[in-house]
Amino acid sequence: MGDTVKGRVLYKKEWKDWWERNYERKARGDRGPDTESKLNESDFNELSPMLVKHRDFLFAGREKCRIFVPLSGASPNVKWIADQGHAVVGVECAPYAILDFFETNSIEYIKTVSKVDPSYNVYTAKGIDIVIFEGDYFNFNADIAGGKMDGVSDTASLNTIPFNKREEYVTVMLSLLKSDSRYLLSGWDFGEFRTWPYNPWNISKKDVKKLFGDKCTSTLLDENVTQWGVDRTFLIQPK
Ligand SMILES: C[S@@+](CC[C@H](N)C(=O)[O-])C[C@H]1O[C@@H](n2cnc3c(N)ncnc32)[C@H](O)[C@@H]1O
Repeated sequence: MGDTVKGRVLYKKEWKDWWERNYERKARGDRGPDTESKLNESDFNELSPMLVKHRDFLFAGREKCRIFVPLSGASPNVKWIADQGHAVVGVECAPYAILDFFETNSIEYIKTVSKVDPSYNVYTAKGIDIVIFEGDYFNFNADIAGGKMDGVSDTASLNTIPFNKREEYVTVMLSLLKSDSRYLLSGWDFGEFRTWPYNPWNISKKDVKKLFGDKCTSTLLDENVTQWGVDRTFLIQPK
């Protein structure tokens, strides 16, 4: 995590390249870290324990919620949420991350182009309620998504967003939420352990207040102090 390798500057193009290299390495049976970026797939191929632990705050006893997973990568969270009986909408810029997700989980899909915005490819799973949009998060909206969301599962996605893009990230997010939405946000605050000038960036308690404070309530649900810093989970709800 404390890696300062230049290749860890991961903006959209670099993410796409990383996922493509990761996909090819996997196909070759190479399970070591990516020598170019030193980014490990294991950094984000695990089901979030915070999502599992705090699921009741997200679902709140509601059936068949529509849950948004921003920057979904190949996250196992997507299938886990769908397995709980909910519908998942993901958005991810890297086609190889999406391929990885469907292949790893042995889920078949149909790939189409969005009729609302043809810059998005749409991967609709067969036999399970998952739709992943391939495209830029920052241009995503409720029309492209086919409606607003009952909830959000955000694990380390806001951490990926540099400080100067965070207000825009939140604006897009809030435009996607129904008024009674429940947004589970897990993020790292590396604090003084953060020695690298690249992604992932910090999320402090102050950041959460500043970003959501005017329009939402935020409740701290969990706080785990580790050798890397503090991992916190918040419940965010529109006011
Ligand atoms: C740290 S990973 C997200 C991890 C994921 N939330 C999880 O739980 O495993 C960040 C993801 O965001 C994607 N990404 C980065 N910028 C993006 C953008 N502007 N639009 C859509 N996806 C983006 C990357 O390709 C990458 O898969």
